[in-house]
Amino acid sequence: MVRILGIESSCDETAAAIVTSDGELSASVVASQIDTHSKYGGVVPELASREHLRAIGPVVRGALEQARLGWDDIDAIAVTAGPGLVGSLLVGLTYAKAVCLVRGLPLIGVNHIEGHIHAVLLEARQCGAEIELPALALVASGGHTHLFEVSERMTYRLLGKTRDDAAGEAYDKVAKLLGFGYPGGPVLDKLAPYGDADGLALPISKMKGNALDFSFSGLKTAMLRWVQAHDMEGEIVTRRALMKLHPHPTVEQWLAVTPQTTLDAVAAFQRVVVEELLRRVGRAVEETAARSVIISGGVACNAGLRASAQSGRLMCPVYFPAPHLSTDNAAMIAAAAVPRFLRGEFDDLTLKAQANLTL
Ligand code: KG4
Ligand code: ZN
Repeated sequence: MVRILGIESSCDETAAAIVTSDGELSASVVASQIDTHSKYGGVVPELASREHLRAIGPVVRGALEQARLGWDDIDAIAVTAGPGLVGSLLVGLTYAKAVCLVRGLPLIGVNHIEGHIHAVLLEARQCGAEIELPALALVASGGHTHLFEVSERMTYRLLGKTRDDAAGEAYDKVAKLLGFGYPGGPVLDKLAPYGDADGLALPISKMKGNALDFSFSGLKTAMLRWVQAHDMEGEIVTRRALMKLHPHPTVEQWLAVTPQTTLDAVAAFQRVVVEELLRRVGRAVEETAARSVIISGGVACNAGLRASAQSGRLMCPVYFPAPHLSTDNAAMIAAAAVPRFLRGEFDDLTLKAQANLTL
Protein backbone atom coordinates (compact mmCIF):
# COMPACT_ATOMS: atom_id res chain seq x y z
CA MET A 1 0.00 0.00 0.00
CA VAL A 2 1.34 3.46 -0.90
CA ARG A 3 0.23 6.89 0.31
CA ILE A 4 0.17 9.88 -2.00
CA LEU A 5 -0.13 13.46 -0.81
CA GLY A 6 -1.93 15.57 -3.42
CA ILE A 7 -1.73 19.34 -3.79
CA GLU A 8 -4.17 21.48 -5.80
CA SER A 9 -3.86 25.23 -6.41
CA SER A 10 -5.02 25.78 -10.00
CA CYS A 11 -7.72 28.38 -9.34
CA ASP A 12 -9.16 29.75 -6.09
CA GLU A 13 -8.94 26.76 -3.77
CA THR A 14 -5.76 25.73 -1.96
CA ALA A 15 -6.11 22.04 -1.16
CA ALA A 16 -4.12 19.07 0.12
CA ALA A 17 -5.22 15.47 0.61
CA ILE A 18 -3.81 12.02 1.28
CA VAL A 19 -5.05 8.99 -0.67
CA THR A 20 -3.80 5.41 -0.48
CA SER A 21 -3.41 2.93 -3.33
CA ASP A 22 -6.28 0.99 -1.69
CA GLY A 23 -8.54 3.95 -2.47
CA GLU A 24 -8.76 5.23 1.10
CA LEU A 25 -9.09 8.98 1.58
CA SER A 26 -7.08 9.59 4.77
CA ALA A 27 -7.34 13.40 4.79
CA SER A 28 -8.68 16.25 2.70
CA VAL A 29 -8.31 19.95 3.47
CA VAL A 30 -9.62 22.75 1.24
CA ALA A 31 -9.06 26.46 1.91
CA SER A 32 -11.48 28.43 -0.25
CA GLN A 33 -10.77 31.99 -1.38
CA ILE A 34 -14.40 32.70 -2.28
CA ASP A 35 -14.76 35.47 0.29
CA THR A 36 -11.64 37.22 -1.10
CA HIS A 37 -12.91 37.19 -4.70
CA SER A 38 -16.66 37.61 -4.17
CA LYS A 39 -16.44 41.39 -3.81
CA TYR A 40 -14.91 41.56 -7.31
CA GLY A 41 -17.54 39.24 -8.84
CA GLY A 42 -14.93 36.72 -10.03
CA VAL A 43 -11.45 35.34 -9.43
CA VAL A 44 -8.69 38.00 -9.45
CA PRO A 45 -5.53 36.09 -10.49
CA GLU A 46 -3.06 38.29 -8.55
CA LEU A 47 -5.05 37.95 -5.34
CA ALA A 48 -5.43 34.21 -5.91
CA SER A 49 -1.63 33.66 -6.06
CA ARG A 50 -1.11 35.68 -2.90
CA GLU A 51 -3.82 33.75 -1.04
CA HIS A 52 -2.33 30.42 -2.18
CA LEU A 53 1.05 31.49 -0.79
CA ARG A 54 -0.56 32.27 2.54
CA ALA A 55 -2.57 29.04 2.69
CA ILE A 56 -0.33 26.35 1.20
CA GLY A 57 1.80 25.61 4.30
CA PRO A 58 -1.08 25.39 6.80
CA VAL A 59 -3.23 23.39 4.36
CA VAL A 60 -0.55 20.73 3.74
CA ARG A 61 0.27 20.51 7.46
CA GLY A 62 -3.47 20.31 8.15
CA ALA A 63 -3.80 17.28 5.84
CA LEU A 64 -0.92 15.47 7.58
CA GLU A 65 -2.43 16.26 10.99
CA GLN A 66 -5.91 15.13 9.90
CA ALA A 67 -4.45 11.77 8.82
CA ARG A 68 -2.17 11.66 11.92
CA LEU A 69 0.80 11.06 9.64
CA GLY A 70 4.30 12.49 9.19
CA TRP A 71 6.36 13.03 6.04
CA ASP A 72 7.99 9.62 6.54
CA ASP A 73 4.60 8.00 5.88
CA ILE A 74 4.22 9.66 2.46
CA ASP A 75 5.46 7.83 -0.67
CA ALA A 76 4.97 10.51 -3.35
CA ILE A 77 3.70 14.02 -3.97
CA ALA A 78 1.09 14.63 -6.67
CA VAL A 79 0.45 18.18 -7.81
CA THR A 80 -1.76 19.89 -10.36
CA ALA A 81 0.48 20.95 -13.27
CA GLY A 82 -2.35 22.53 -15.33
CA PRO A 83 -4.64 23.76 -16.72
CA GLY A 84 -5.32 26.81 -14.55
CA LEU A 85 -4.03 30.23 -13.59
CA VAL A 86 -0.28 30.14 -14.02
CA GLY A 87 0.52 32.16 -10.88
CA SER A 88 -1.74 29.92 -8.80
CA LEU A 89 -0.39 26.69 -10.30
CA LEU A 90 3.18 27.82 -9.57
CA VAL A 91 2.53 28.08 -5.84
CA GLY A 92 1.41 24.44 -5.50
CA LEU A 93 4.01 23.20 -7.97
CA THR A 94 6.92 24.99 -6.30
CA TYR A 95 5.83 23.79 -2.87
CA ALA A 96 5.54 20.20 -4.16
CA LYS A 97 8.98 20.33 -5.80
CA ALA A 98 10.56 21.72 -2.63
CA VAL A 99 9.11 18.89 -0.53
CA CYS A 100 10.23 16.29 -3.09
CA LEU A 101 13.74 17.71 -3.12
CA VAL A 102 14.08 17.88 0.66
CA ARG A 103 12.41 14.55 1.46
CA GLY A 104 13.66 12.64 -1.60
CA LEU A 105 10.11 11.83 -2.71
CA PRO A 106 8.93 11.18 -6.28
CA LEU A 107 6.88 13.91 -7.98
CA ILE A 108 3.79 13.28 -10.12
CA GLY A 109 2.28 16.15 -12.14
CA VAL A 110 -1.46 15.73 -12.67
CA ASN A 111 -3.85 17.23 -15.21
CA HIS A 112 -6.61 19.01 -13.25
CA ILE A 113 -9.33 17.78 -15.64
CA GLU A 114 -8.20 14.18 -15.23
CA GLY A 115 -8.37 14.84 -11.48
CA HIS A 116 -12.07 15.73 -11.74
CA ILE A 117 -12.74 12.37 -13.46
CA HIS A 118 -10.79 10.50 -10.76
CA ALA A 119 -12.92 12.13 -8.02
CA VAL A 120 -15.78 9.91 -9.22
CA LEU A 121 -13.61 6.79 -9.52
CA LEU A 122 -12.20 7.34 -6.01
CA GLU A 123 -15.64 7.63 -4.48
CA ALA A 124 -17.00 4.64 -6.41
CA ARG A 125 -14.09 2.58 -5.11
CA GLN A 126 -14.88 3.61 -1.53
CA CYS A 127 -18.52 2.54 -2.00
CA GLY A 128 -17.48 -0.74 -3.65
CA ALA A 129 -19.23 0.36 -6.87
CA GLU A 130 -17.81 -0.77 -10.19
CA ILE A 131 -17.98 1.91 -12.90
CA GLU A 132 -18.14 0.05 -16.18
CA LEU A 133 -15.79 1.24 -18.91
CA PRO A 134 -15.79 2.60 -21.55
CA ALA A 135 -17.52 5.58 -19.96
CA LEU A 136 -18.39 9.11 -20.93
CA ALA A 137 -17.03 11.81 -18.65
CA LEU A 138 -18.51 15.31 -18.57
CA VAL A 139 -16.32 17.77 -16.65
CA ALA A 140 -18.25 21.01 -16.12
CA SER A 141 -16.82 23.73 -13.90
CA GLY A 142 -15.96 27.42 -13.85
CA GLY A 143 -13.03 26.84 -16.19
CA HIS A 144 -14.00 23.85 -18.33
CA THR A 145 -16.85 22.09 -20.08
CA HIS A 146 -15.37 19.00 -21.69
CA LEU A 147 -16.88 15.69 -22.76
CA PHE A 148 -14.53 12.68 -22.98
CA GLU A 149 -14.78 9.04 -23.82
CA VAL A 150 -12.80 7.07 -21.22
CA SER A 151 -11.53 3.73 -22.53
CA GLU A 152 -11.03 0.46 -20.63
CA ARG A 153 -7.31 1.35 -20.47
CA MET A 154 -8.16 4.73 -18.91
CA THR A 155 -7.18 6.73 -21.98
CA TYR A 156 -9.20 9.79 -22.89
CA ARG A 157 -10.69 10.88 -26.21
CA LEU A 158 -12.06 14.42 -26.30
CA LEU A 159 -15.52 14.32 -27.92
CA GLY A 160 -16.53 17.95 -27.41
CA LYS A 161 -15.81 21.08 -25.45
CA THR A 162 -17.16 24.58 -25.02
CA ARG A 163 -16.48 27.05 -27.80
CA ASP A 164 -16.98 30.04 -25.51
CA ASP A 165 -17.89 30.11 -21.82
CA ALA A 166 -17.67 27.15 -19.46
CA ALA A 167 -20.99 26.12 -17.89
CA GLY A 168 -19.96 27.38 -14.42
CA GLU A 169 -18.70 30.61 -15.98
CA ALA A 170 -22.14 31.11 -17.58
CA TYR A 171 -23.75 30.62 -14.15
CA ASP A 172 -21.33 33.11 -12.60
CA LYS A 173 -21.84 35.74 -15.33
CA VAL A 174 -25.64 35.45 -15.35
CA ALA A 175 -25.74 35.62 -11.54
CA LYS A 176 -23.69 38.82 -11.76
CA LEU A 177 -26.10 40.28 -14.37
CA LEU A 178 -29.05 39.49 -12.10
CA GLY A 179 -27.34 40.94 -9.03
CA PHE A 180 -26.63 37.73 -7.13
CA GLY A 181 -23.26 37.06 -5.51
CA TYR A 182 -20.20 35.11 -6.63
CA PRO A 183 -19.99 32.20 -7.27
CA GLY A 184 -23.35 32.25 -9.06
CA GLY A 185 -23.99 28.53 -9.55
CA PRO A 186 -24.96 27.59 -5.99
CA VAL A 187 -27.36 30.58 -5.57
CA LEU A 188 -29.14 30.16 -8.92
CA ASP A 189 -29.39 26.41 -8.32
CA LYS A 190 -31.08 26.96 -4.93
CA LEU A 191 -33.54 29.52 -6.36
CA ALA A 192 -34.42 27.67 -9.59
CA PRO A 193 -37.06 25.40 -7.98
CA TYR A 194 -39.05 28.51 -6.96
CA GLY A 195 -39.49 29.71 -10.56
CA ASP A 196 -41.47 28.54 -13.57
CA ALA A 197 -38.83 27.10 -15.93
CA ASP A 198 -41.22 27.53 -18.89
CA GLY A 199 -41.99 31.13 -17.96
CA LEU A 200 -39.33 32.46 -20.33
CA ALA A 201 -38.35 31.25 -23.82
CA LEU A 202 -34.56 30.98 -24.15
CA PRO A 203 -32.50 29.84 -27.16
CA ILE A 204 -30.96 26.37 -27.39
CA SER A 205 -27.59 26.51 -29.18
CA LYS A 206 -27.21 25.01 -32.65
CA MET A 207 -23.65 23.91 -33.35
CA LYS A 208 -22.11 23.98 -36.79
CA GLY A 209 -19.42 21.30 -37.13
CA ASN A 210 -18.95 19.08 -34.09
CA ALA A 211 -22.44 18.58 -32.61
CA LEU A 212 -20.87 17.50 -29.30
CA ASP A 213 -19.29 20.92 -28.71
CA PHE A 214 -20.99 23.25 -26.23
CA SER A 215 -21.83 26.95 -26.37
CA PHE A 216 -23.31 29.20 -23.71
CA SER A 217 -22.78 32.66 -25.23
CA GLY A 218 -26.20 32.82 -26.97
CA LEU A 219 -27.91 31.93 -23.72
CA LYS A 220 -25.87 34.53 -21.84
CA THR A 221 -26.80 37.19 -24.42
CA ALA A 222 -30.51 36.24 -24.14
CA MET A 223 -30.28 36.68 -20.37
CA LEU A 224 -28.59 40.08 -20.87
CA ARG A 225 -31.43 41.16 -23.20
CA TRP A 226 -33.97 39.99 -20.63
CA VAL A 227 -32.27 42.05 -17.90
CA GLN A 228 -32.15 45.11 -20.20
CA ALA A 229 -35.86 44.76 -20.96
CA HIS A 230 -36.79 44.68 -17.26
CA ASP A 231 -36.40 47.41 -14.71
CA MET A 232 -34.20 45.50 -12.28
CA GLU A 233 -32.22 48.30 -10.68
CA GLY A 234 -34.32 48.36 -7.49
CA GLU A 235 -34.14 44.64 -6.80
CA ILE A 236 -30.41 44.49 -7.64
CA VAL A 237 -29.67 47.32 -5.17
CA THR A 238 -31.72 45.48 -2.51
CA ARG A 239 -29.84 42.23 -3.12
CA ARG A 240 -26.47 44.03 -2.88
CA ALA A 241 -27.59 45.51 0.44
CA LEU A 242 -28.60 42.03 1.64
CA MET A 243 -25.15 40.65 0.73
CA LYS A 244 -23.47 43.46 2.68
CA LEU A 245 -25.50 42.52 5.76
CA HIS A 246 -25.28 38.76 5.22
CA PRO A 247 -22.34 37.61 3.06
CA HIS A 248 -24.00 34.19 2.62
CA PRO A 249 -27.78 34.78 2.50
CA THR A 250 -30.19 31.90 3.08
CA VAL A 251 -32.73 30.85 0.43
CA GLU A 252 -35.49 32.60 2.43
CA GLN A 253 -33.46 35.84 2.47
CA TRP A 254 -32.87 35.65 -1.30
CA LEU A 255 -36.55 34.92 -1.91
CA ALA A 256 -37.53 37.98 0.13
CA VAL A 257 -35.63 40.27 -2.30
CA THR A 258 -36.35 38.48 -5.60
CA PRO A 259 -39.61 38.97 -7.54
CA GLN A 260 -41.33 36.02 -9.18
CA THR A 261 -40.39 37.19 -12.72
CA THR A 262 -36.69 37.00 -11.81
CA LEU A 263 -37.17 33.56 -10.22
CA ASP A 264 -38.84 32.42 -13.46
CA ALA A 265 -35.83 33.71 -15.44
CA VAL A 266 -33.44 31.83 -13.11
CA ALA A 267 -35.45 28.61 -13.48
CA ALA A 268 -35.55 28.97 -17.28
CA PHE A 269 -31.79 29.61 -17.40
CA GLN A 270 -31.07 26.52 -15.32
CA ARG A 271 -33.42 24.39 -17.48
CA VAL A 272 -31.54 25.41 -20.63
CA VAL A 273 -28.04 24.87 -19.15
CA VAL A 274 -29.05 21.38 -18.00
CA GLU A 275 -30.52 20.65 -21.45
CA GLU A 276 -27.40 21.97 -23.23
CA LEU A 277 -25.21 19.66 -21.14
CA LEU A 278 -27.31 16.50 -21.11
CA ARG A 279 -28.39 16.68 -24.76
CA ARG A 280 -24.72 16.26 -25.77
CA VAL A 281 -24.12 13.52 -23.23
CA GLY A 282 -27.25 11.68 -24.45
CA ARG A 283 -26.11 11.94 -28.05
CA ALA A 284 -22.63 10.69 -27.13
CA VAL A 285 -24.17 7.69 -25.32
CA GLU A 286 -25.95 6.81 -28.58
CA GLU A 287 -22.85 7.33 -30.73
CA THR A 288 -20.28 5.46 -28.62
CA ALA A 289 -20.02 2.14 -26.80
CA ALA A 290 -20.16 3.90 -23.39
CA ARG A 291 -21.57 1.76 -20.58
CA SER A 292 -21.73 4.49 -17.95
CA VAL A 293 -21.61 8.27 -17.52
CA ILE A 294 -19.46 10.25 -15.09
CA ILE A 295 -20.31 13.89 -14.35
CA SER A 296 -17.85 15.96 -12.33
CA GLY A 297 -16.57 19.52 -11.70
CA GLY A 298 -18.26 22.29 -9.69
CA VAL A 299 -21.39 22.30 -11.89
CA ALA A 300 -21.92 18.63 -10.96
CA CYS A 301 -23.17 19.97 -7.59
CA ASN A 302 -26.23 21.29 -9.45
CA ALA A 303 -29.43 19.70 -8.13
CA GLY A 304 -31.33 20.22 -11.41
CA LEU A 305 -28.52 18.56 -13.40
CA ARG A 306 -28.34 15.62 -10.98
CA ALA A 307 -32.09 15.04 -11.02
CA SER A 308 -32.36 15.21 -14.80
CA ALA A 309 -29.25 13.06 -15.44
CA GLN A 310 -30.47 10.41 -13.00
CA SER A 311 -34.03 10.32 -14.37
CA GLY A 312 -33.12 7.45 -16.69
CA ARG A 313 -32.91 9.64 -19.81
CA LEU A 314 -29.23 8.77 -20.44
CA MET A 315 -30.04 5.03 -20.70
CA CYS A 316 -27.02 3.97 -18.59
CA PRO A 317 -25.80 4.36 -14.98
CA VAL A 318 -24.76 7.95 -14.12
CA TYR A 319 -22.20 8.70 -11.41
CA PHE A 320 -21.67 12.04 -9.65
CA PRO A 321 -19.12 12.65 -6.87
CA ALA A 322 -20.32 14.01 -3.52
CA PRO A 323 -20.42 17.85 -3.68
CA HIS A 324 -17.13 18.26 -1.71
CA LEU A 325 -15.39 16.08 -4.32
CA SER A 326 -17.15 17.78 -7.27
CA THR A 327 -15.64 21.21 -6.67
CA ASP A 328 -11.86 21.66 -6.66
CA ASN A 329 -10.07 19.49 -4.11
CA ALA A 330 -6.76 17.62 -3.79
CA ALA A 331 -8.19 14.13 -3.16
CA MET A 332 -8.92 13.92 -6.90
CA ILE A 333 -5.32 14.94 -7.71
CA ALA A 334 -3.83 12.30 -5.39
CA ALA A 335 -6.29 9.69 -6.73
CA ALA A 336 -5.33 10.43 -10.34
CA ALA A 337 -1.65 9.93 -9.41
CA VAL A 338 -2.13 6.43 -7.92
CA PRO A 339 -2.12 4.52 -11.26
CA ARG A 340 0.83 6.63 -12.42
CA PHE A 341 2.75 5.73 -9.23
CA LEU A 342 1.98 2.04 -9.69
CA ARG A 343 3.30 2.22 -13.28
CA GLY A 344 6.43 4.02 -12.05
CA GLU A 345 5.70 7.15 -14.13
CA PHE A 346 7.28 10.08 -12.33
CA ASP A 347 8.13 13.65 -13.25
CA ASP A 348 11.38 15.38 -12.51
CA LEU A 349 11.94 18.76 -10.94
CA THR A 350 11.84 20.50 -14.32
CA LEU A 351 8.05 19.93 -14.43
CA LYS A 352 6.41 23.17 -15.60
CA ALA A 353 3.08 24.80 -14.79
CA GLN A 354 1.01 24.71 -18.00
CA ALA A 355 -1.92 27.11 -18.00
CA ASN A 356 -3.42 25.50 -21.14
CA LEU A 357 -2.57 21.85 -20.50
CA THR A 358 -4.93 19.58 -22.45
CA LEU A 359 -6.11 16.05 -21.72
O1 KG4 B 1 -14.66 22.79 -10.11
P1 KG4 B 1 -14.74 24.16 -9.50
O2 KG4 B 1 -14.69 24.25 -8.01
O3 KG4 B 1 -13.59 25.08 -10.03
C1 KG4 B 1 -13.15 25.13 -11.34
O4 KG4 B 1 -12.34 24.26 -11.74
O5 KG4 B 1 -13.65 26.04 -12.05
O6 KG4 B 1 -16.08 24.84 -10.08
C2 KG4 B 1 -16.55 26.10 -9.69
C3 KG4 B 1 -17.71 26.47 -10.58
C4 KG4 B 1 -18.22 27.89 -10.39
O7 KG4 B 1 -18.40 28.47 -11.67
C5 KG4 B 1 -19.56 27.71 -9.69
O8 KG4 B 1 -20.51 28.72 -10.00
C6 KG4 B 1 -20.00 26.36 -10.24
O9 KG4 B 1 -18.82 25.60 -10.32
N1 KG4 B 1 -20.96 25.71 -9.33
C7 KG4 B 1 -22.22 25.44 -9.67
C8 KG4 B 1 -22.85 24.89 -8.52
N2 KG4 B 1 -21.91 24.83 -7.52
C9 KG4 B 1 -20.76 25.33 -8.04
N3 KG4 B 1 -22.89 25.64 -10.82
C10 KG4 B 1 -24.18 25.27 -10.87
N4 KG4 B 1 -24.84 24.75 -9.80
C11 KG4 B 1 -24.23 24.53 -8.62
N5 KG4 B 1 -24.89 24.01 -7.59
ZN1 ZN C 1 -11.83 22.27 -11.33
